[in-house]
Amino acid sequence: MTARAASLRDHTRGAAAMERVLDYYSRNRARTQALFDLLDDGAYYSRPIDLRHPIVFYEGHLPAFSFNTLVKRGLGGASIDPDLETLFARGIDPSEDQAGRNTGHRWPSRDTVRQFAEEADRRVRAALGRDDLDRPGDPLLHRAEAVFTILEHEAMHQETLLYMWHRLPFEQKRRPQGYAPVVDGRAPVHEWIDVPSGRVTLGADEEMLLFGWDNERPHHAADVASFTMQRHDVTNADYLEFVNQGGAAPLFWERHDGTWYWRGMFDLIPLPLSWPVYVSHEGASAYAEWRGWLLPTEAQFQRAAYGASDGRERIYPWGEASPSREHGVFDFASWDPEPAGSHPAGRSAWGVDDLVGNGWEWTNTVFAPFPGFRPLPSYPEYSADFFDGEHFVMKGASPATARELIRPTFRNWFRPRYPYLYATFRCVRP
Ligand SMILES: [Fe+2]
Repeated sequence: MTARAASLRDHTRGAAAMERVLDYYSRNRARTQALFDLLDDGAYYSRPIDLRHPIVFYEGHLPAFSFNTLVKRGLGGASIDPDLETLFARGIDPSEDQAGRNTGHRWPSRDTVRQFAEEADRRVRAALGRDDLDRPGDPLLHRAEAVFTILEHEAMHQETLLYMWHRLPFEQKRRPQGYAPVVDGRAPVHEWIDVPSGRVTLGADEEMLLFGWDNERPHHAADVASFTMQRHDVTNADYLEFVNQGGAAPLFWERHDGTWYWRGMFDLIPLPLSWPVYVSHEGASAYAEWRGWLLPTEAQFQRAAYGASDGRERIYPWGEASPSREHGVFDFASWDPEPAGSHPAGRSAWGVDDLVGNGWEWTNTVFAPFPGFRPLPSYPEYSADFFDGEHFVMKGASPATARELIRPTFRNWFRPRYPYLYATFRCVRP
């Protein structure tokens, strides 16, 4: 085992690790509460994105999922309310032909949801306080794995919640005091960075990671030929040239009286030319084709982000230091993007900016299992339901990605026409 793998593994063992788990759980719960507090009561039963459940669902879903996964499935605990546990069990990525299927459903009152959520939360905290959760060789289930499943599930949902909140009318949201989007700065001049050929690692083995989802395992190596990559994400300024030539405008853009605006979280902003454009995979592909360039593969992204001239691979583009504000726009540092290239401390070894943070990065790699894939016992449907050839891999992080999710092996995936994401892209040439 390498030194890096051993140090990552050490985080998963012992009482200190379990204490950190309770901290992580509490931080998650507090942040979920804060996100719901951004909304006016009138938004509670609304459904800002057709393909997803109404907002009420998510207030029940997060504690229900944690309770179902850890307490019921993991530890064999008793039910609280079987109907509510089922109602709030599952809610991701319904396919387009299922849109609207749940619209006639009657949702419980907010008091009912909150009472259930509080009880589920109480029982999850009690379970997290037990000292036998990381017992090695647990015959029932990998309990520590169930713990990280619920922690990462909630952190990931917070990003989903925010891009749903993004679509709500401004008058249904409460702007946090003192928040103003960072719009100054001109669009950076584009540069092409040569990335030399080399071998990259995709995925990790169980003993190497604190926690990884099933789609991150097992690890394998891939050889990447040299290529050239854009130093910066494609900005709104770049994408405007495409739209002016007849390309479709992204969902985040709105036109009023002949002027383009960006629909931010709390404001309509005259199109910030220096921000990375947020577009669907379809939009990103159309732009690349129009320029005569390509979207990177997942392996090319790995090489650009984690490779270095000494032949070793880094944990982060900037090295080994834990992710912090200076490295990029992530961990809820902002409710909107910031100008491309404004975090030089986060630059990769080759000099590519913002690979982690300020928006997920589209690749042209179809989401598929790594060779030797095995579904996760505590959440077997997590990835396997999406190996349908209709989802593309995104890498990196957005402003709404928790810092705990930032690791080289983390993979995100979506359908190519899903327009709501905090996802940007950059192009490559051979
Ligand atoms: Fe979920």
